[in-house]
Amino acid sequence: MRRMSPMTATSHAQPGHEIPTLSVDELRQTQLERLRATVRTAYDNVPHYRAGFDAAGAHPDDITSLEDIRTLPFLVKTDLRDNYPFGMFAVPREQVVRVHGSSGTTGRPTVVGYTQRDIDTWADLMARSIRLAGGRPGDIAHVAYGYGLFTGGLGAHYGAERLGCTVVPVSGGMTDRQVQLITDFGPRIIMVTPSYFLSLLDEMERLGINPAETSLEVGIFGAEPWTEKMRQEIESRTGMDAVDIYGLSEVMGPGVAQEAAETKDGLHLWEDHFYPEIIDPLTEEVLPDGEMGELVLTSLTKQAMPVIRYRTRDLTRLLPGSAVPSMRRIEKVTGRSDDMMIIRGVNVFPTQIEEYVLADSRLAPYFQCVLRQPGRMVELTVLVEPHEPVSPGEAEEIAKRLQHEIKTHIGTTCKVEVREPGSIERSIGKARRIVDERPKG
Ligand code: DLL
Repeated sequence: MRRMSPMTATSHAQPGHEIPTLSVDELRQTQLERLRATVRTAYDNVPHYRAGFDAAGAHPDDITSLEDIRTLPFLVKTDLRDNYPFGMFAVPREQVVRVHGSSGTTGRPTVVGYTQRDIDTWADLMARSIRLAGGRPGDIAHVAYGYGLFTGGLGAHYGAERLGCTVVPVSGGMTDRQVQLITDFGPRIIMVTPSYFLSLLDEMERLGINPAETSLEVGIFGAEPWTEKMRQEIESRTGMDAVDIYGLSEVMGPGVAQEAAETKDGLHLWEDHFYPEIIDPLTEEVLPDGEMGELVLTSLTKQAMPVIRYRTRDLTRLLPGSAVPSMRRIEKVTGRSDDMMIIRGVNVFPTQIEEYVLADSRLAPYFQCVLRQPGRMVELTVLVEPHEPVSPGEAEEIAKRLQHEIKTHIGTTCKVEVREPGSIERSIGKARRIVDERPKG
């Protein structure tokens, strides 16, 4: 087995997008070498890291084992905002060949930068991801993730090209044209948010096209949480393999972790490039593998913008490898701590609501959670819509039943409003599941 040297992510002897067959010991050794190099570079070149490490009494020379990472401070989104736009770069700006940004709901975007080698590594990891998802060189890949500052479109694009696919760079929107291109070009792979894919399926059905009869065989869905129930809904309507892809701009973009089509049992984290930890979000204590908590990621090979102990706010747990034996998996991310609603003392995530919406075959897979606060208490109203128009009596029965399911299984009281078919907001990217109508301030 060829040993990987630190900071040479893309290899020469073997294509970088091959999934490495390292033993766990080799992987840990590689991670340690790369961690030490990353921490050193960050300390020497990024004032934020130097100040943070100094304040914590930590020094790059003291990192002699992977556990020593715990002596380093966490990085949070506001640190990136505070260093807007280019303050977190570890290389001169001239070496940054591309920037992306994460939208964020308010204020400035978070800026991330890539050197040419970072772009190459990303393409390799996305190519690996597409292959694990069941893609093959020669496939036609329809990319309907948004192109632009968002990392989805270009990330998927470069990865599919790297694998040797024919890429159709459609981006999001113009749903009728998307369907036409799928019909005309015959892609085998589609990469898109699961919520926008539902809109594509509806459009196919509106045009009299049976989604199960298109050329599509593999859907690589991510950028937002989606449930096993949603997988079943998509797979049963299309006959495709619906697999999950995870990533975030701060750490790279899509392709940080990928589910295998053959196992569909969680997402393999590309551990030769990212070091994962799970922490208790309140105490910040590092939790053992298998326990649920917040995912914290450290980049091991990034040049332009290394991230050290980045708090993703995504909730998951670490599981042992399966399809890729040496690389641990993360369980499907079903919630972000930011999306946690606290309704009468009960923690509720939109994905929990999704399960019960999808369990009623009369309901379309679109819903929103509206938060209001008329008095002291926060109230949750779940907006749903049936596939077909229903009578007021049936609407009431649907609402009562969903309310009951949510009360019984999630433990919270909520209102349910059954709206007209087609009236709930559709997205062309990430769905907006929570509408917060509480008074600000
Ligand atoms: O959403 C990158 C991406 C693009 C991933 C395309 C997959 C496919 P951001 O806009 O920075 O980047 O948002 C990152 O989205 O912290 C998660 O909360 C959420 N997220 C991404 N993938 C998944 C997933 C892209 N598979 C944030 N399941 C992350 C659940 C996901 N949540």
